[in-house]
Amino acid sequence: MIGVYDSGAGGLSVWKELVAMMPDEDYIYVGDNAWCPYGEKPVEIIIERAEAITLFLNGKGADIIVIACNTATAAAISHLRRKYSQIQFVGIEPAIKPAALESRTGVVGVLATANTLKAEKYHRTLNRFASGVKVIERVGEGLVEAVESGRDARKALLRCITPMIEEGADAIVLGCTHYPFLSEQIKAISGPAVRIIDPAPAVALRTKSILEMMPPSPRKDKSSGKSVFFTTGTYDSVKRLSLKIKPDLPENSWKGFERI
Ligand code: DGL
Repeated sequence: MIGVYDSGAGGLSVWKELVAMMPDEDYIYVGDNAWCPYGEKPVEIIIERAEAITLFLNGKGADIIVIACNTATAAAISHLRRKYSQIQFVGIEPAIKPAALESRTGVVGVLATANTLKAEKYHRTLNRFASGVKVIERVGEGLVEAVESGRDARKALLRCITPMIEEGADAIVLGCTHYPFLSEQIKAISGPAVRIIDPAPAVALRTKSILEMMPPSPRKDKSSGKSVFFTTGTYDSVKRLSLKIKPDLPENSWKGFERI
């Protein structure tokens, strides 16, 4: 059983890649909608939520947990790995490396939450891989809310993307798992020459290789390729977007509200 969580429905962009790569595994997803967005919350709260959700997912049988949230990965993954060493954690972070390596203009845009852009983890990645390029950072103000509610994000996107394009960026790194749901609109603003970089496929690949190295779990019944979804808040976005990705999900996939 693979556990996947995010502040809301954004992590479904990672779940989509996991299911595409490993369709026979079972998945349990938590959208922490009661606490969404994480983007500007105190780091201590994000760590507390990460612990509570880890215990919930592990209690349900997940011994590998994909933190499908850049903000929670930056805030909590080191802490989780130290405290729960029996659980495998896979995180996600802005894909600066491929963007910087392949940029021809030497300018890349990074769109992420305020907490991700402030995090030490992100700055370490920048120092390692982006020293030769100019990085234009933008906090995706209002974007998480637009994805969660299904509202139009065009105005908010124009504010974020236009300065990147004006500076000559030829790659935009999606540093929040909600943003792939806006890829088409981002492309419409940036034009076809700008690459939109989403690390979700790389996260799925990493999860697969960790899974292959793990000893078979004694409690593991044969997996049947099903996914179940929980939320701590309103249910709409997780149901709406999971169905958009996989329209044939059976009705009992959504397990409803859970106080975690
Ligand atoms: N989807 C999340 C991320 O990747 C969190 C967004 C938020 O809740 O602010 O950062």
